[in-house]
Amino acid sequence: MHKVLAVDNDLLFLDFIRDLLEENGHLVETAQDGISALNALETFTPDIIFLDLIMPNIDGKKLCKIIRRMEHLNNTRIIILSAAAKEESFEASELGVESIIAKGPLEHMTEDILSVLEQTLRPAPFSPSGHVAVTGDIHQRRITSELLSTKKHFEQILERMTEGILEITSDRRIVYANRIAGALVGLPEEDLLGIDFLNLFSLKDRLRIQERLKENFQEGEGSYSEETLALKEYLVTVDLLEIHQDERKHIIILNNVTERKKLEKSIIQSERLAATGQLAASIAHQINSPLQGITALLTVMKENRKDDPDLTENIRLLEGAFKSIRNTVRRLLNVSRPGQEGKRPVNIHEIIKDIVALVSTHLRQTGIKIHLNFYKESIYLTASPQQLEHVFLNLINNAIEAITVEDRRSTNLCTGEITISTELKKDLLVIEISDSGPGIPEDALNHVFDAFYTSKGDLGMGVGLSVCRAIIVEQKGTIEVRNTAGSGSTFRISLPLKL
Ligand SMILES: Nc1ncnc2c1ncn2[C@@H]1O[C@H](COP(=O)(O)OP(=O)(O)OP(=O)(O)O)[C@@H](O)[C@H]1O
Ligand SMILES: [Mg+2]
Repeated sequence: MHKVLAVDNDLLFLDFIRDLLEENGHLVETAQDGISALNALETFTPDIIFLDLIMPNIDGKKLCKIIRRMEHLNNTRIIILSAAAKEESFEASELGVESIIAKGPLEHMTEDILSVLEQTLRPAPFSPSGHVAVTGDIHQRRITSELLSTKKHFEQILERMTEGILEITSDRRIVYANRIAGALVGLPEEDLLGIDFLNLFSLKDRLRIQERLKENFQEGEGSYSEETLALKEYLVTVDLLEIHQDERKHIIILNNVTERKKLEKSIIQSERLAATGQLAASIAHQINSPLQGITALLTVMKENRKDDPDLTENIRLLEGAFKSIRNTVRRLLNVSRPGQEGKRPVNIHEIIKDIVALVSTHLRQTGIKIHLNFYKESIYLTASPQQLEHVFLNLINNAIEAITVEDRRSTNLCTGEITISTELKKDLLVIEISDSGPGIPEDALNHVFDAFYTSKGDLGMGVGLSVCRAIIVEQKGTIEVRNTAGSGSTFRISLPLKL
């Protein structure tokens, strides 16, 4: 006795084959479509599967591919029983099947089925290599070949669509997936077929889709939504179209909106940045006006009270302090108006060295070492020196902050290092600033350039990197960050040598 699974959507045929095989002493289970066959195979391990090619809910060819990936069915032989044996051309090796029997009138088939079954069950090892001969009379019918060609035509259109297309049954099992759907999910079609469509999404999103599917079932209309859901690394919108009200089947359209969302985000960011810039400019302006008045008054006081050396000295100190406030305010104005300040040829190595000199006391206090790995020759660039200084100052300060936070957590001693390197790549100047800090958590990598993103609580404003990016973008360059293998992060700035 052998265990047999017969899969066919023709009930008459299923009855026929069950009676025939049971009479011959075999144990027979039946399934009417691909999904029911997969369900049966979860608990039943047949020696032989008789499989129809053209069936609803996962056709025979696809089912073969899925079965051939199931380890527990390694010893199971597959026999194709098909009315379209002639019209559907395929190689046995492609599907891993043992034999193909052409379906004809039932009374002619008893012999074909029994003889193929006997051959198949012979102990010779099976090796699906090359073409398998078709047993039985072939009844070529025009209608079959026309239907098959129409089916192929539509499949080709679906395959070439830019949207991901899935078809699901009433219990949400996937029975069709086009190429793009597979790419979005990161799985080949064979792995997608038969699984619950909801499992592709996160727990949170599953509930929402379930809700929409339920409404669809009740109202029978399509459900379109602009809401974006995460699918692996992509963002998609999901349209649900009911195609068969009785069978409650759905076509799912997945639109990949990842790029569009990125673009929208960067527009919002630059708007936010512009608003920040305006705010900074108006604050700078308001501080500047009274400052000018105070400085003028101090000068007058100094002139009038030359006889009081203590007061004169205090006034001198005050003047120094106000000068420093004025400088800060002026910088604020410059930064908030990228592109406004005059550009001139600047030596990039000199600019970096100036900034390193500026932070050298701080570096000495913290014990952090800085290495400069400069390109062998001087590199000149037409840019605003103040703005470039601002970029390097921000990046070095961030690196110092990252290293000191990390070190304080472990040893109280700073052993960190910062390396700044420059290189020429064709027409690009590439500057890398690496630190030995803790690096940036994966989920934050996409956000560090967002205005107001900070992990430093009240100690950070979260504008440093967004301003750096605005300056670099204005200079037609790019700035990106990655975590360095080992530890720390590396910021890479690429600037065109000629604007
Ligand atoms: N070198 C670095 N190592 C680790 N994390 C970093 C580094 N540079 C930036 N970050 C992360 O990026 C976030 C944003 O940096 P950004 O300079 O924009 O703002 P901030 O330093 O928090 O505040 P501020 O506006 O005062 O500069 C930081 O809060 C930190 O989480
Ligand atoms: Mg910062």
